[in-house]
Amino acid sequence: MGLIARLQERLLGIAPWDAGHITDEWFRAHFEYAADVVNHWVGGVLDMPSARFLNFGCGDGITDLSLVLRYGATSIHGVDVRREYQKLPRIAREQLGMQRVPVALTFETIQSGDALAQAGVQYDGIMSWSTFEHVRRDQLATILADLHACLRPGGYFFIQIEPLYFSPYGSHLRRYDDTPWHHLLATEDALWKVIENHQGPIDPAEVDFGFADFGVDGYKRFVFNEYKALNRLTADELVQFAKGAGFSVAREERRTVDLEVPEGLLSQYPRDWLVNNEIFLLLRKD
Ligand SMILES: C[S@@+](CC[C@H](N)C(=O)[O-])C[C@H]1O[C@@H](n2cnc3c(N)ncnc32)[C@H](O)[C@@H]1O
Repeated sequence: MGLIARLQERLLGIAPWDAGHITDEWFRAHFEYAADVVNHWVGGVLDMPSARFLNFGCGDGITDLSLVLRYGATSIHGVDVRREYQKLPRIAREQLGMQRVPVALTFETIQSGDALAQAGVQYDGIMSWSTFEHVRRDQLATILADLHACLRPGGYFFIQIEPLYFSPYGSHLRRYDDTPWHHLLATEDALWKVIENHQGPIDPAEVDFGFADFGVDGYKRFVFNEYKALNRLTADELVQFAKGAGFSVAREERRTVDLEVPEGLLSQYPRDWLVNNEIFLLLRKD
């Protein structure tokens, strides 16, 4: 954030904003729901206005913007391997009528597995929303150890994953394919055919701001490649990786779906993998 932006905010305060402008359901889901959940888990153990935060896999930064505007956060550094956060000034103008993104927010593009701790910043809190299922499995241990090193002793790390891979819509393809567990039942070719042949609108809450860059067919290819790259992490494995990196579990919640599991799957996978669609995990560095 530049010097001019800092001066402007010091003189004029945070730019006015109005949630009454919100028309986009993806924006609403992050500005309201995701930020509420992060605050619920993190706001109870850290002081939002004074804490220094890192958001690992920040995406477009909408949740971070909300944590500043609605929950008084004053320092969030978002890192991501993509650059979706560069759209945030436009998104904030369109969805909130906000002319300047708060200086509390900073963003950085990283390479997957970069040693973030080398920057020497000790964060009070780290959050990561719907990101750890996308991290390469062979990098999970190193990335978690690096995030552990980024946190001050007594700091907290909140991780959310939904949907978990083995759950009914764990493919992340539900916007195109509503058949539960289809990715565990069909071949990859058959699954791609369903996506490729999909016609008509998709759930607006699932259409991110990258959609316009890809177009209809490009977006299908993008989400299918994302599906193929999922690390297939289970909730137990995530907890094991986190403990292996030195974290202790302060609190966790696992959510399950109430759907009848096809018999064929029960002979291949444990039931709790198949029904557990979400994990909220609050880790602590002792
Ligand atoms: C499903 S998106 C979630 C983004 C954001 N947290 C949100 O809620 O909208 C997953 C994000 O993780 C990022 N990501 C995947 N692997 C990563 C890695 N190794 N390091 C940092 N970010 C990563 C992706 O670029 C993507 O922005």
